[in-house]
Amino acid sequence: MAGRVAVITGAASGIGRGLAEEGARQGLRLVLADIDEAALRALAAQLQGQGSEVLACVTDVADPEQVARLRDAAVARFAGVDLLFNNAGVMQTGYSWTIDARQWQRMLDINLKGVINGIHAFMPLLLEQGRPAHVVNTASLAGLVSSPLMAPYNVTKQAVVALSETLHYELEQLGAQVAVSVLCPGPVASAIMASDAVAEGPAAALNALLDDSIRAGMAPRALAELVFQAVAEKRFWILPHKFFKPALEQRLRSILDESNPRFVMADGQGDAHAAR
Ligand SMILES: NC(=O)c1ccc[n+]([C@@H]2O[C@H](COP(=O)([O-])OP(=O)(O)OC[C@H]3O[C@@H](n4cnc5c(N)ncnc54)[C@H](O)[C@@H]3O)[C@@H](O)[C@H]2O)c1
Repeated sequence: MAGRVAVITGAASGIGRGLAEEGARQGLRLVLADIDEAALRALAAQLQGQGSEVLACVTDVADPEQVARLRDAAVARFAGVDLLFNNAGVMQTGYSWTIDARQWQRMLDINLKGVINGIHAFMPLLLEQGRPAHVVNTASLAGLVSSPLMAPYNVTKQAVVALSETLHYELEQLGAQVAVSVLCPGPVASAIMASDAVAEGPAAALNALLDDSIRAGMAPRALAELVFQAVAEKRFWILPHKFFKPALEQRLRSILDESNPRFVMADGQGDAHAAR
């Protein structure tokens, strides 16, 4: 990995920060993008202080022009890009019908269009470079199994999985040197629940539950090690948590059997139980 250039969105916190720190440890040259300028500059200074080559670009992934500028800045500084992590994302909970148009738009713009903007801006460059490159799109367990009270999150993350699979088939058909992975983690210690604007009614209880499990979640650096390993092995599916597989299996079986879906809450303790 050493010397390769990695662009990471949502780099200033949580999973993105873990990827940046682990990437720096592995000798990558880093292009870090985030909308939170203060946190981004602090991380860039920390990694530069440890001897890493880092370019920090304040970027809103929801804006295609800013993502194109991010690509141009990466090329201007490092003459190319080897790894792209479309990672920035936010949370919104609440009953599907209580989430208003503005909240839906924010989720679609950041969680889905953010990834679309990354693919659109960077893929031509990665293909034209004529050398191996890799894209990792951060989805979630919610990209594979739906939970109540999380409609915009489920919708955007399942769309990211669909986009990533499509991209994978297209790159295979082209025989391209560019590969893609989709990262579907369970709880990882991060600040994501702070991005959830709604905390009343049943959503407040869900928030508290999610907050607890995220606080106790996998360490971002440990996750980043698994991600870099998967990239080295060119693995499409990156599923760091295994506890949700019974819920996924049940969902797939219900589709194949054409039986009605039944919500199974994966509890992270190695088993899954039916929610009341
Ligand atoms: N933490 C978890 O348990 C978990 C589980 C599955 C998937 N994920 C996904 O991981 C990704 C990273 O989230 P996290 O948990 O590290 O959360 P986080 O809140 O700690 O980090 C997200 C970062 O994205 C940045 N960001 C938000 N909106 C942005 C925008 N418009 N443009 C650029 N940057 C923006 C934030 O400033 C923040 O630094 C998200 O896509 C999230 O959905 C997280």
